[in-house]
Amino acid sequence: MEHKSNQNQSLNWGLISTARINRAVINPLRESARNELVAVASRSKEKAQDYASEWDIPQAYGSYQAMLDDPEIDVVYNSLPNSLHTEWTVKALKAGKHVLCEKPLATTIEEVDEMRAAAKETGNHLAEAFMYRHHPQTIKVKELVDSGILGEVRLVIGDFTFSIKSEEDVRLNPDLGGGSIWDIGCYPISYTRYIMGEEPQEVFGWQMSGNSGVDEVFTGQMRFAGDVFAQFDSGFRSPYRSRIEIVGSEASMVIPQPFNPGLEVEIQIDRDGEIESIPMPRKELYIGEVEDMADVILNGSSPRVSMEDSRNNIKLILALLQSAELGKPVLLS
Ligand SMILES: NC(=O)c1ccc[n+]([C@@H]2O[C@H](COP(=O)([O-])OP(=O)(O)OC[C@H]3O[C@@H](n4cnc5c(N)ncnc54)[C@H](OP(=O)(O)O)[C@@H]3O)[C@@H](O)[C@H]2O)c1
Repeated sequence: MEHKSNQNQSLNWGLISTARINRAVINPLRESARNELVAVASRSKEKAQDYASEWDIPQAYGSYQAMLDDPEIDVVYNSLPNSLHTEWTVKALKAGKHVLCEKPLATTIEEVDEMRAAAKETGNHLAEAFMYRHHPQTIKVKELVDSGILGEVRLVIGDFTFSIKSEEDVRLNPDLGGGSIWDIGCYPISYTRYIMGEEPQEVFGWQMSGNSGVDEVFTGQMRFAGDVFAQFDSGFRSPYRSRIEIVGSEASMVIPQPFNPGLEVEIQIDRDGEIESIPMPRKELYIGEVEDMADVILNGSSPRVSMEDSRNNIKLILALLQSAELGKPVLLS
């Protein structure tokens, strides 16, 4: 399938919904020479028009499908609530669009497989928007760990929590794919898998469920080959915390802003109390995911977050939720 973009070397993007997270990608799309934000779609025409005028977006559509029917759109950013990711990603792929879909890509393995099959069948590209994975800090941390600066990795500890502001938030709605492990626990899980470069063999989880039934606090353990361990927690009922600690046989490393690195970040390496601070490369956080998408579509490179990677993260989250439900560890094949 030949896209207009392949001739122009510039991609026309449309936003599926007026979600709050859109504002994170609007400036990166504008700053990028190879991407252009041309449209927004909402369930309401009025909402789409108000949003388009607030953010200076040329086109506004009163339904998601209307935007998918526009042949001028090359790529859509799917920022819908989690339970709607699959339906609209598959529709977009089948309408001839490439898709950058928010995390978590889906909440079942069957959905991931359906999305992957639709991408394969149509020849269009799909990637999960794990923005932190594109940031040079993440890549630098992985290089340092792989260089052996900490010795052998023994333990990875991660956390991501915040205090939810509204009881109406989609994150508390089980029908929309709510729950803290899906929303933010997915980050320390993904980070740990990336650092380890492999999948765990066994997991154990506990959760505290809220009134709606979704987990509002989740704490989990993962065991990797060679008895390397990982622990994480996620939650909606504590102040903002975001941190990764990697403990090795020679030293440990603390990354204070692993998922949302700011522009002035240092990581600390602790060797028996002797602290070394290493400044991290600076970069705007969300530019990486839109440039990666352009590389994949225009240059034929592989996406930094592959479908297999997304699938494995989701498989792990499901195993952790199963463990919390059963009250016992779950072995992964
Ligand atoms: N990567 C990141 O840094 C990051 C950060 C935050 C969130 N996220 C992800 O982005 C996605 C959206 O999160 P958000 O907090 O931005 O969501 P949000 O502000 O609640 O927006 C979700 C949008 O989905 C549309 N929608 C369609 N059906 C809906 C329904 N039944 N109920 C509510 N909204 C519905 C609405 O747009 P219309 O009314 O215009 O149709 C709404 O504005 C989630 O998958 C989340 O995990 C990622």
